[in-house]
Amino acid sequence: MRILITGADGQLGSELCRVLGYETIIPMTLPDFDLTKPDVEPKIVDASPDLIIHAGAYTDVDAAEREPNVVMAVNARGTREVSKAAARLGVRLIYISTDYVFSGQQRTPYHEQDDPCPINQYGFSKWKGEQAVLATGINSLVVRTAWLFGAVGKNFVKSIARAAQSETVLRVVDDQRGCPTYAEDLAYAIVALMTKDVAGVIHLTNRGHCTWYELARAVVHEMGAGCPILPITTLQAGRPAKRPQYSVMSNSRCASLGIVLPEWSQALARFVRGPSMSLAEPQCAPLPHT
Ligand SMILES: NC(=O)c1ccc[n+]([C@@H]2O[C@H](COP(=O)([O-])OP(=O)(O)OC[C@H]3O[C@@H](n4cnc5c(N)ncnc54)[C@H](OP(=O)(O)O)[C@@H]3O)[C@@H](O)[C@H]2O)c1
Repeated sequence: MRILITGADGQLGSELCRVLGYETIIPMTLPDFDLTKPDVEPKIVDASPDLIIHAGAYTDVDAAEREPNVVMAVNARGTREVSKAAARLGVRLIYISTDYVFSGQQRTPYHEQDDPCPINQYGFSKWKGEQAVLATGINSLVVRTAWLFGAVGKNFVKSIARAAQSETVLRVVDDQRGCPTYAEDLAYAIVALMTKDVAGVIHLTNRGHCTWYELARAVVHEMGAGCPILPITTLQAGRPAKRPQYSVMSNSRCASLGIVLPEWSQALARFVRGPSMSLAEPQCAPLPHT
């Protein structure tokens, strides 16, 4: 089986490539493969995969507020083109989406049948991407995940780990709650989902939930660092994009298929204590990312 992966050098895409094995995959990356260009569909059709995993996306939540047209071009229209290619080839499409399709007004975990109501440009564009996938009528699965961390690229965990080594005190948002998810665990779970006869929308995160502040404390604890962390509010953080206050997702549909990811705190410990957390590359600001 040949699996085409968009965003193959991103945080999740690179884990998928590693887990699936490079001989199986057809990696699609910028600049050769650009979701905003008109040749998305023909390029995928030419590659002739048996399955598509669409992980490529514009993921900078704050920048998306300044560039609504760009984020829509990548996440909504680009996804529509990927869906058209899947339809033309008659192959299954797995689309990676986000907890940020929800408004965050609930105080109980979001289920797949709950109505999305995004409150920022990024979430809106990903929801439009979901609709493009589901409207095509192809064999597809929308996998909503959240708060990713992993070895490749920028993420909150690496930002906190780096800041804990250089700052005297960290201030982190404590009024947004979600489900941190280890890209490696997610990649293995997506591979498991590939073998299941499941369609529609499914939620998939590590178990448990926390605030960004609680996550930051856990990172510093796992590092054995002594850097103090102060909780702040979303208002105090003053980020350009609104974020859901509560975007915890229920994993019950996935669990019914026998797929259950470990607790986020265990996954975090594996990541922080393991060999893959390199802090050498530039990081984003130590506040909520995607
Ligand atoms: N990160 C999170 O916390 C989070 C949470 C929930 C859901 N998700 C979703 O999970 C998926 C994977 O996220 P991630 O964290 O792995 O993101 P990521 O590290 O930002 O990777 C995204 C990939 O998409 C590529 N890309 C960006 N613009 C593109 C374009 N115009 N054409 C083609 N490729 C383009 C990027 O290439 P460059 O690196 O060259 O720019 C990168 O390889 C995404 O669909 C995202 O929406 C992420």
